[in-house]
Amino acid sequence: MIKGIGIDLVELKRISSWKEDKFLDRILSDEERKVYETITHEQRKLTFIGGRFAAKEALFKAFSTGDKRANYQDFSILNDENGKPYVVSIHQTKDMMIHISITHTDDYAMAYVVIETL
Ligand SMILES: CC(C)(COP(=O)(O)OP(=O)(O)OC[C@H]1O[C@@H](n2cnc3c(N)ncnc32)[C@H](O)[C@@H]1OP(=O)(O)O)[C@@H](O)C(=O)NCCC(=O)NCCS
Repeated sequence: MIKGIGIDLVELKRISSWKEDKFLDRILSDEERKVYETITHEQRKLTFIGGRFAAKEALFKAFSTGDKRANYQDFSILNDENGKPYVVSIHQTKDMMIHISITHTDDYAMAYVVIETL
């Protein structure tokens, strides 16, 4: 059964200042930060942050998380050996499948999430 869906679109020029530590600390989990530190290309840094931010906003929508309970650190969006993104959550997700898809251009990053109960 579908428990929730979420979608988010991020304009990358709005987040270009987010490469500063204070924003990275807020948005990226430790695992994501490790991946981020390996990126050398400036535009790729931006699409990485934008993609993670869009993914987490989409997750909040899919979980219907109220603003007060939304914490970017609750989720890590990592990539498998094929590049496919997957979600690691600090919350109990044993009884559900979280499907996620991310896309980006030079100007935008977008993510779509479907939460399925098992
Ligand atoms: C994987 C692929 C579809 C990405 O498309 P793209 O137009 O280059 O890039 P987009 O901006 O639309 O998407 C990039 C995002 O795709 C996602 N992605 C990468 N590989 C993926 C895969 N194998 N399956 C699903 N999603 C994937 C990632 O989340 C990536 O963003 P991130 O690295 O910041 O997390 C493309 O490289 C491709 O066609 N590869 C060959 C075929 C393939 O592997 N298809 C995947 C289905 S098996």
